[in-house]
Amino acid sequence: MRILIVGNLGYVGPVVVQHLRSRFPRAELIGFDTGLFAHCLTGTGQLPEIALNAQYYGDIREFPPSLLRGVDAVAEAIGRAEAELRSTWRQMGVGFAAVVVAT
Ligand SMILES: NC(=O)c1ccc[n+]([C@@H]2O[C@H](COP(=O)([O-])OP(=O)(O)OC[C@H]3O[C@@H](n4cnc5c(N)ncnc54)[C@H](O)[C@@H]3O)[C@@H](O)[C@H]2O)c1
Repeated sequence: MRILIVGNLGYVGPVVVQHLRSRFPRAELIGFDTGLFAHCLTGTGQLPEIALNAQYYGDIREFPPSLLRGVDAVAEAIGRAEAELRSTWRQMGVGFAAVVVAT
């Protein structure tokens, strides 16, 4: 199973990643984030990216559709309005994925 986590480098995102890693240890976890807070660590443990199989940097508004190849589910933690997110993913053809919006 391949899961994309958008906004994985914020406050909530790393917790979502840790949960997914423990719940689905064999899943391929892919992070996508602007890296806005990449220099702001709130702990002295390992960097949050270590729980991922791959980390990509960019803006969701310019999301490369190729990253959706083989993705079974998308978890969102970037703090944008739900309707706007749904519209963004719909434009990319993400009809098959579960979009989880942290509110
Ligand atoms: N922090 C909390 O205690 C808390 C509690 C409950 C719910 N929430 C919700 O969880 C969600 C995330 O909150 P947070 O505190 O982790 O926010 P945050 O600002 O700490 O993290 C958001 C992450 O999304 C990334 N991001 C923002 N815009 C982006 C874009 N256009 N493209 C790609 N990446 C982008 C940022 O770089 C950042 O890493 C929000 O919807 C918030 O309302 C937060």
